[in-house]
Amino acid sequence: MKPAPSLPATADLFRMDGMRILLTGAGGAIGAVLARAFADLGATVALHDISETKVAALAAEINDGGGSALTFAADIAEPDQCVELIEAAAAAMGGLDVLVNGAGINRRKPIVEVTVDDFDAITAVNMRAVYLLSQAAHPHLAASPHGAIVNLSSLSARYSFNTISVYAATKAAVSGMTRSFAREWVADGIRVNCIEPAVVQTEFTKPLWGEEHRARWFADTTPIGRLAQADELVGAVVFLATPASSYITGQSIVVEGGILSGGDWDSYADATS
Ligand SMILES: NC(=O)c1ccc[n+]([C@@H]2O[C@H](COP(=O)([O-])OP(=O)(O)OC[C@H]3O[C@@H](n4cnc5c(N)ncnc54)[C@H](O)[C@@H]3O)[C@@H](O)[C@H]2O)c1
Repeated sequence: MKPAPSLPATADLFRMDGMRILLTGAGGAIGAVLARAFADLGATVALHDISETKVAALAAEINDGGGSALTFAADIAEPDQCVELIEAAAAAMGGLDVLVNGAGINRRKPIVEVTVDDFDAITAVNMRAVYLLSQAAHPHLAASPHGAIVNLSSLSARYSFNTISVYAATKAAVSGMTRSFAREWVADGIRVNCIEPAVVQTEFTKPLWGEEHRARWFADTTPIGRLAQADELVGAVVFLATPASSYITGQSIVVEGGILSGGDWDSYADATS
């Protein structure tokens, strides 16, 4: 049997001092919150997005606050740019300990209106790029004493909504890839996990919660009674990225306010029809 790793003291289990993390989609609503959290916990963070301008202010904020952030631009819909991004980030940080696949897109449409271009665009970013970035990161993560990947999947991997058929399929693929990569790379000391959040209140999801009837539906259907805020994902992602989860790989943490816990059949008791 392999020896167990020696873990940090309890108070330091979730620390990220010295960790070199690449976060894709760092300019987005969730990415920016995660980036600040990683930096606060002591990590050096490579902030990636499609353009440098999307992450420049965030990097300045982190660096001015005493943290350590670098910026990288790449269109991860392009396979070559996925590989170049990994190599550039690993070279700049002197290695890579954690890859967080955070970039994602959606085009919400009924199934009968989805075009081949929609299908290809969504799968290229949400699914193929996660595969190619992880693949390119393999030698760097294998060289790390605590290599890990955390994928931002979605509750839609297992609980879909109308108009998100392609997005939901890509997120189911991300959760599936999480298991495949975890199983194959456990021998290389790389842990691979994902989170599956329900709707988080961001610009990305404003078409959902911004509509009064949809906001009411979310409030009624989510046992916790509200949508998640981006900072409510930090705990799960940090847990999966740090030695706090050293014996966990191939798992999804569903961050969904109790939606999957079941229904309340008395909630219709006062309904008139
Ligand atoms: N917001 C939610 O409710 C929610 C719920 C579950 C899962 N997620 C997932 O969390 C992740 C972040 O979501 P968000 O709400 O912060 O979205 P967001 O749109 O605010 O951020 C996504 C970022 O990815 C970047 N990106 C998109 N395509 C790219 C490309 N081709 N190359 C490089 N960068 C690209 C965008 O520029 C953007 O900054 C996504 O993977 C999303 O699917 C979000």
